[in-house]
Amino acid sequence: MTTVAERFAPASRGLRGSVAAPADKSISHRAALFAAMGSGEARIEGYLRAADTLATLEAVRMLGAEVVIDGDVVAVRGVGLRGAREPGRVIDVQNSGTLLRLLPGWLAGQEGRSFSLDGDESIRRRPVDRIAIPLARMGARIEATDGRTAPLTVHGARLTGIEHRTAVASAQVKSAVLLAGLLAEGPTSVIEPAASRDHTERMMLAIGVDLRRDGTTTTVRPAGAVELGALRVPGDPSSAAFLIAAATLIDGSAVRIVNVAANWTRTGFIEIARRMGAAIDGAIESPGSPPTAEEPTTTLEVSHAALRGVVVEPAEIAQAIDELPLVALLGCFAEGDTVVRGAQELRVKETDRIATVVEGLGALGAAIEATDDGFVVRGSGGLRGGVLRSHGDHRLAMLGAIAGLCSREGVEVVGLEAAAVSYPGFAGDLARLSG
Ligand code: S3P
Repeated sequence: MTTVAERFAPASRGLRGSVAAPADKSISHRAALFAAMGSGEARIEGYLRAADTLATLEAVRMLGAEVVIDGDVVAVRGVGLRGAREPGRVIDVQNSGTLLRLLPGWLAGQEGRSFSLDGDESIRRRPVDRIAIPLARMGARIEATDGRTAPLTVHGARLTGIEHRTAVASAQVKSAVLLAGLLAEGPTSVIEPAASRDHTERMMLAIGVDLRRDGTTTTVRPAGAVELGALRVPGDPSSAAFLIAAATLIDGSAVRIVNVAANWTRTGFIEIARRMGAAIDGAIESPGSPPTAEEPTTTLEVSHAALRGVVVEPAEIAQAIDELPLVALLGCFAEGDTVVRGAQELRVKETDRIATVVEGLGALGAAIEATDDGFVVRGSGGLRGGVLRSHGDHRLAMLGAIAGLCSREGVEVVGLEAAAVSYPGFAGDLARLSG
């Protein structure tokens, strides 16, 4: 892909208008996988047509599913829970960590068949033992490099249910093990140190899987078959977060964002921003709600507000993991210090997001320092501007663009094309709201 550099000038007026959040990436990935596991036809409305989730459609096609894309409706005829075909070539997950971690959960139960997965440079740096170890305990064999990264090969086998305690709160790990649990003998439980996003559980409940949750323990029983049927994908709160941050920081802004998923396991950024003083109207699910078969949605109204620094504690991290770069940006404009703790998982995202956020915002004039497990930002009255490199990380690219609009001198974002991984319409939506 060619590198695109684009300059985002300081906003000359507030952001105004209404916008629909782009479809949720996490829910889209899961919908495509569950649709492929069925044997009938599933219809997914509002599927996210971005690089990561198109990679998932291509992957399930390679496994034998029929996929027809018609606008934002995707129809999938699946291969059945145990019917994934050996593709005969490597499945390319591209930049998608979610696909890299979730798909092996299903494939682990395809007895006697083997599947290889690989992806881009970033994928080849991301740890896979967190799924390889539990899936091996269930009976599958997983080969990876010596550094325990992709390329990896999943040798499917007859699986046995396990109880797995995860070292970190990771929805990707939890989902991989629960998916394998559908094909295993006996129950499978995942015990997390804190609740991670629960879209897999909600989708399982929606399609009639026997799933129970007790605290942070989730138990699934094997399923004979799964049929997704019809599903509508709500808007992505992680994508909406960029617009929330922009409207909060730019004087004179009043933005309405419709169709945002309000699942509490995803709304930590809204809670943190509100604590900083952000003016965000709109109901979100109560923290701690048990998973239901539904994905609630909301409309958010965001206007400009003055901010104060806050401490983000380890217990809040899982619900805001992908939005922490934006917490750092808000911190630059807040009164006082903003501290993020317990976020060491940021080091194994699309980039080491502690390093890239500190480098990126630091180059724009932020007073920001990395710690082992997060960062400390001194509110310094805003940002000067300059050049921010995305390092191929979609969330860094969009962070740079928003920083540019809020800065005194503007920001050139090098590698803006990475935004297409999760939010292809990002620059267009921003331009429309900017008038
Ligand atoms: C995701 C889970 C999170 C998140 C990622 C998407 C998912 O990762 O950072 O962008 O769809 O399950 P972890 O579960 O590894 O924290």
